[in-house]
Amino acid sequence: MNVSDTEIVNSILMEEGMQPVNEPEDAEVVFINTCSIRENAEERVWNRLKEFKAMKRERDGDMTVGVLGCMAERIREQIMEKEELVDLVVGPDAYRDLPKLLSDVDDGRKAVNVLLSLEETYADIKPVRTNDNGVSAFVTIMRGCDNMCAFCVVPFTRGRERSRPAESILDELKQLSDQGYKEVTLLGQNVNSYDDGENTFAELMFKASQVDPEMRIRFSSPHPKDFPEELLESISEQPNLCSYIHIPAQSGSNAVLERMRRPYTREQYLELVEKMRDIIPGVTLSTDIITGFCDETEEEHQDTLSLMAEVKYDLAYMFAYSERGRTLAERKYEDNVPEDVKKRRLSEIIEQQMSIQEELNKKEIGRRHLVLVEGTSKRSDEQLRGRTDTNKMVVFDRKDFEKGDYVEVTITDCTSATLMGDPIKKSSIAEFEAEPVAV
Ligand code: 5AD
Ligand code: SF4
Repeated sequence: MNVSDTEIVNSILMEEGMQPVNEPEDAEVVFINTCSIRENAEERVWNRLKEFKAMKRERDGDMTVGVLGCMAERIREQIMEKEELVDLVVGPDAYRDLPKLLSDVDDGRKAVNVLLSLEETYADIKPVRTNDNGVSAFVTIMRGCDNMCAFCVVPFTRGRERSRPAESILDELKQLSDQGYKEVTLLGQNVNSYDDGENTFAELMFKASQVDPEMRIRFSSPHPKDFPEELLESISEQPNLCSYIHIPAQSGSNAVLERMRRPYTREQYLELVEKMRDIIPGVTLSTDIITGFCDETEEEHQDTLSLMAEVKYDLAYMFAYSERGRTLAERKYEDNVPEDVKKRRLSEIIEQQMSIQEELNKKEIGRRHLVLVEGTSKRSDEQLRGRTDTNKMVVFDRKDFEKGDYVEVTITDCTSATLMGDPIKKSSIAEFEAEPVAV
């Protein structure tokens, strides 16, 4: 989401005649686009701000430093005491105000706008993608979240839910396809609540699939509470809607889910997983898990381990709970699982997950996949890297293949994180015949 927001900020600033540079040392204005979702994300921002402060001092103050995004509201409170660190504080709904705020700073004033909006979707702004691979892009389709999960600061930092009109999303997809992009991830805090007054998320996904049959469509993140069959059927039927779903569980314990204000039970969640696997054969799944939430007992932690063992996720993002200001959990519960216990539980779920991933990846050996090449492998210039439809990273010999090609690959080896393969030939979504998947 922050990458996508930065692309909107790029566009607004470049309209003003500013140009992006690669290194902060070369910049007159530096912005940090911040995240508040966990404490360590915020710590990294403070450290970065200290580096910029030193840089600014070396330049006798001739540098503007701004904080954008979710931490803006919090920083505003601290801006008096941390005054020397930042000149400009701008929240996620106020980026259109950046040119005016920058001129306030030029006039010697501190500039702040952290107002949240009920409408802003930046629908008419054409994001400027300066940092991507030219193959896959993010497109924001909705902003904010109304779910109010007890642990989560997003509803406070990013505001109420609002959907960008489908027409402007579909226009952007068309432009990306014309520019040669081959994969788009539709983004939002809560994508399956998408509703622009005319389209549901399922309808938007179907329309997105029709823009360019050779452009893959992914999405992140949905909420398990509403997942219509119509959407699962579209994913199953449209070859360019990817067979990979990120479906955050957060916990495997009903009592913890209730404390978290997640409106589903373990049983309902498992039923949804079963439905996904029924309707979309071969679908891969990933999840988010929080460990050590308030009052979490050893037994509740075991429930999370057993849920993860039962589902067998292809990928999981696992976090130790960190208390966030203004959330329901901060106001009503005690953050009472000791740090060392959180850490131990986190390493237990990570360890189990790594071995599940390795087991699942081993089953991939011998299978054929259509891989979209994203670039050169990190390890060797002689190898390329790309993803399967099911979102698994594959590395294989470069030969004559290029970034942006769809290549048919047979999987030959794996680790818990990556598949290795033999490339067979250049192909396309239309040409590629997937193998039947054993259900
Ligand atoms: N502590 C730890 N993890 C959190 N997440 C959200 N809030 C917190 C928190 N306070 C995790 C959730 C969410 C993901 C984006 O970040 O798992 O799905
Ligand atoms: Fe946060 Fe819950 Fe909204 Fe996700 S659905 S952004 S976890 S409040």
